[in-house]
Amino acid sequence: MSPGSPKTPVIEPETEEYKRRKKALFEFADRLREAAKERRKTMKEEGFKVVVTGKGGAGKTTIAALLARILARRGYRVLAVDEDPQINLPNALGLDKETADKIIPLSRNIDYIEEKTGARPGEEWGVFLIVNPDVSDVIERFGVRGPDGVTVLVMGTVVQAATGCLCPENALLAAVMDYLVLRKGEVVIMDTQAGLEHFGRAIAKGFKQSVVISEPTHNGMQVAVHAMKLSKELGIPYVHLVLNKVRSERDVERAMRIAREFNAPEPTTIVRVPYDPLVLEYEPNVGPLLDMDPKPPIVKAVEELADIVEKYGSL
Ligand SMILES: Nc1ncnc2c1ncn2[C@@H]1O[C@H](COP(=O)(O)OP(=O)(O)O)[C@@H](O)[C@H]1O
Ligand SMILES: [Mg+2]
Repeated sequence: MSPGSPKTPVIEPETEEYKRRKKALFEFADRLREAAKERRKTMKEEGFKVVVTGKGGAGKTTIAALLARILARRGYRVLAVDEDPQINLPNALGLDKETADKIIPLSRNIDYIEEKTGARPGEEWGVFLIVNPDVSDVIERFGVRGPDGVTVLVMGTVVQAATGCLCPENALLAAVMDYLVLRKGEVVIMDTQAGLEHFGRAIAKGFKQSVVISEPTHNGMQVAVHAMKLSKELGIPYVHLVLNKVRSERDVERAMRIAREFNAPEPTTIVRVPYDPLVLEYEPNVGPLLDMDPKPPIVKAVEELADIVEKYGSL
């Protein structure tokens, strides 16, 4: 496997290699979490982290990409993180193919360390990290720079997504996020595959805001309400509900009625994003939308969301 290849090694589950990698990722995450705990004793989070969730197809990647680029244009140093093993975020952000090809998924970290140190799991992984505890270095090494200066980090998988739980990968990602204490003017926007289930409470240590995206449909809202409840349970204080692809006031009324039926917790804010046919003209890249004059409706709406995350990020 060549370093720099964004390809995920396809490993059959329950083989020795699979078990070895799983163990290594968990162990790596544990050590990193320990180091993070120490670090947080003396460092204060001055930036903010936002996690984006919702049902597949709701518009998470589209809105996460717009939000990342809008905040970057406002002068923030933005780290856009793709937790989805499908890795759609780089294209949505408008990375060119050459740059996207340079991305190394975070889950390949173990290969990198192995290449560098020859360490095996259970031996030197954690030691390597503690000697080189600079996660900004991890981000430099594994991330790439995209349009508007947005840095992109992707999680990837060590096994085929079809094999189920991405628990070790998510444990590693959550630990890296926990370790990453942001300075003033730094922002993390994390796009997810579906939910927060696999993160557990680790996620809430770093993420004070979750953005739950839903189309105004019954199934979408069911997933959204679940995500809102889970965000609250995990201890994320600010939960923003984004109703996406809204076509009418009736859509909003319906969505809110469904939310009540599912006993949704009160969201911190509600943002409506209209259905915007311009999105499909350029998809998956949101870049061209940002340069249009007049501003497309979706851009105006995500600017409103950007105002909100800025405001709650500074509380
Ligand atoms: N406001 C919108 N108006 C029109 N199309 C949208 C809007 N938001 C998202 N889409 C489209 O919906 C589809 C799913 O969006 P995507 O961001 O990939 O969802 P997710 O990441 O939640 O699976 C894409 O084709 C995208 O272009
Ligand atoms: Mg997506």
